[in-house]
Amino acid sequence: MNNKVALVTGGTSGIGKEIVIELISKDCKVITCYSSNEENAKNLEKELNNKNLLILKCDVSNEEQVINMFKVIKEKFGKLDYLVNNAGTFIDNLIKDFCIDDFRKVLDINLLGKVICTKHAYPIMNDGGSIVNISSHLGVVPCTESPAYCAAAAGIINFTKATALEFADRKIRANSICPAFTPTPLSLKGWKQEEIEQKLKETPLGRFATPEDTARLCLFLLSDDSSFITGENIWINGGRM
Ligand SMILES: NC(=O)c1ccc[n+]([C@@H]2O[C@H](COP(=O)([O-])OP(=O)(O)OC[C@H]3O[C@@H](n4cnc5c(N)ncnc54)[C@H](OP(=O)(O)O)[C@@H]3O)[C@@H](O)[C@H]2O)c1
Repeated sequence: MNNKVALVTGGTSGIGKEIVIELISKDCKVITCYSSNEENAKNLEKELNNKNLLILKCDVSNEEQVINMFKVIKEKFGKLDYLVNNAGTFIDNLIKDFCIDDFRKVLDINLLGKVICTKHAYPIMNDGGSIVNISSHLGVVPCTESPAYCAAAAGIINFTKATALEFADRKIRANSICPAFTPTPLSLKGWKQEEIEQKLKETPLGRFATPEDTARLCLFLLSDDSSFITGENIWINGGRM
């Protein structure tokens, strides 16, 4: 992965941050973006202190900001080898109580944000590049109180398959990952303690997923080790069905 150029959206926290750390450790040039938490961005910059890392402020649901981000990437690096669409948010409520603006916000960031980044990455992606979209266990097995998140996560899986079909002529692969509950700021905000304990009971391997679990699978799917895998969706859930 030496000298490959990778964009990881939402890499200043949780799962995305771990993907950034793993890619940097493989000597990739890594760009990541965030939308609001400057402190996390500064901390990551300090923690890694690496000339191969570039952190940009860009809301993935805002097409103009995404276009500007890719302009910067093109000027600085000239190309992109890997795209990891990871940025996401979580707002929960029952369907009957959901404010439609909140529902739309989840779809805009979690689903459309990946569409917008994929569309604008395409022109600068190298043939043979690889895209990994982070979906969720909830994209396959829905739950109550997270209908917007579930809908976006399910959409990501099929959008990934459509991307794999469309981009195959340039040998650009696209795969999705569905992590189960992974303790991060996003998930800890979204679930009550008793719900979290219940998830653990339902997990045959008896532990939660970690950001490292997803990051390692992500690197495999980006790398040439998975060169004949595209349009696939892979669960990381410790055996939960
Ligand atoms: N944690 C879980 O249990 C779990 C399970 C399955 C799937 N996932 C998925 O994994 C991905 C990462 O989640 P996480 O748990 O690692 O969350 P996290 O720790 O809250 O990190 C989310 C990251 O996304 C960024 N972000 C949020 N909205 C953004 C936007 N509009 N534009 C650009 N960046 C934005 C955040 O930065 P700012 O706050 O500064 O914007 C942050 O860097 C999400 O797509 C989530 O759906 C998580």
